[in-house]
Amino acid sequence: MLTHTVEEGALPNRFRTLWDQIAPIGRDERSGGYLRYALTEPELRLREWFRAQADERAMPVTEDGNGNLFAWWGDPEVGDAILTGSHFDSVPHGGAYDGPLGIVSAFLAVDELRAADVTPTRPVAVVAFVEEEGARFGVPCLGSRLLTGALEVERAAGLRDADGVSFAEALGARPAGARPELIGRFAAFVELHVEQGRALVERDAPVAVASAIWPHGRWRFDFTGEGNHAGTTRMADRRDPMLTYAFTVLAANKEARLRAAHATVGRVAVEPNATNAIPARVTGWLDARAAEPAALAALVEAVHGKVAERARRDGTQVTLTEESATPLVAFDGGLTDRLATLLDAPVLPTGAGHDAGVLAGHLPTAMLFVRNPTGVSHSPAESATDADCATGVTALARVLKELACR
Ligand code: GLV
Ligand code: MN
Ligand code: MN
Ligand code: MN
Repeated sequence: MLTHTVEEGALPNRFRTLWDQIAPIGRDERSGGYLRYALTEPELRLREWFRAQADERAMPVTEDGNGNLFAWWGDPEVGDAILTGSHFDSVPHGGAYDGPLGIVSAFLAVDELRAADVTPTRPVAVVAFVEEEGARFGVPCLGSRLLTGALEVERAAGLRDADGVSFAEALGARPAGARPELIGRFAAFVELHVEQGRALVERDAPVAVASAIWPHGRWRFDFTGEGNHAGTTRMADRRDPMLTYAFTVLAANKEARLRAAHATVGRVAVEPNATNAIPARVTGWLDARAAEPAALAALVEAVHGKVAERARRDGTQVTLTEESATPLVAFDGGLTDRLATLLDAPVLPTGAGHDAGVLAGHLPTAMLFVRNPTGVSHSPAESATDADCATGVTALARVLKELACR
């Protein structure tokens, strides 16, 4: 694997120059993390930056009517194109790299190929998918799901953010939905992404190729009880949904550990949310992931069963609603092997969702991961060195050359 050091090469410096242009956008000074929710001001600025970068490179930009942007090196109408890119949006107080690294690297990889006088025989397109994290409208990979028809237009259009703004309102139009003729123009998709764990640190390698994405989903638990006075209600008389909620967090953790799976309750809403009132209602969102679909289903079922039993004891009610589901994704084995050999890179599975997982059901798809020294993601502590990012660009350029020049 070719590696760069900051001193030796121009590419890490060119990476830094481009990276510094977007680094302040949507950054929260207090946490150091990013608030780049889809179609809000910071993300719209990043989309403007995308158009400007495309413009500088004489790459025409097209939109798919779902909020996804494409910048084309070559004729968009030709077909058999190679797609690369990622997303700009972040989770609340997310890291800098999750998403934007794939887009910045894609533009730099195009620069590398052009500087080396590589002339692709197929078009290359850089994509920025909308609402990959689902942090604003609740459904992850919203743009790629719409584009591929995995999500109905009606449902997507009606999804609302915390302020009641619908996706259709934020987009300024009813989404276009499935665009098979556009998907049909692509021969392959490669998404470069910061690694969201420490496997590459442990392997002492800068870049990996992804093998699979664990099946995962989001479930909403609605707990209802009886709102009442904290000072006057005897402990025995309470119907406190916070207790059932607290039990749920512990049960999810325990069941996931028992099954070598992952379960997280990272979001909660409490009503009325007052220190001196027993809550009337609590909503908790469960994110659950496992290596196999059956293991995931068994995990959620086990948690639900235990919680339902606990609710009976607490005198509360609980309902469970699936908000999104992502099946097991096995990336194209032929393509993955080919890229791993080309790059002499390790092959790793991941528990994180990506637009690549959605596209994998429609065209040969692969992912490259760039080493993350902290191993942390969805947090301001997410990291990558400029040298490794440059190595990622070099790897992506080699992959694009391999795929687009034949
Ligand atoms: C998205 O990054 C996810 O895996 O939740
Ligand atoms: Mn993410
Ligand atoms: Mn991402
Ligand atoms: Mn993701």
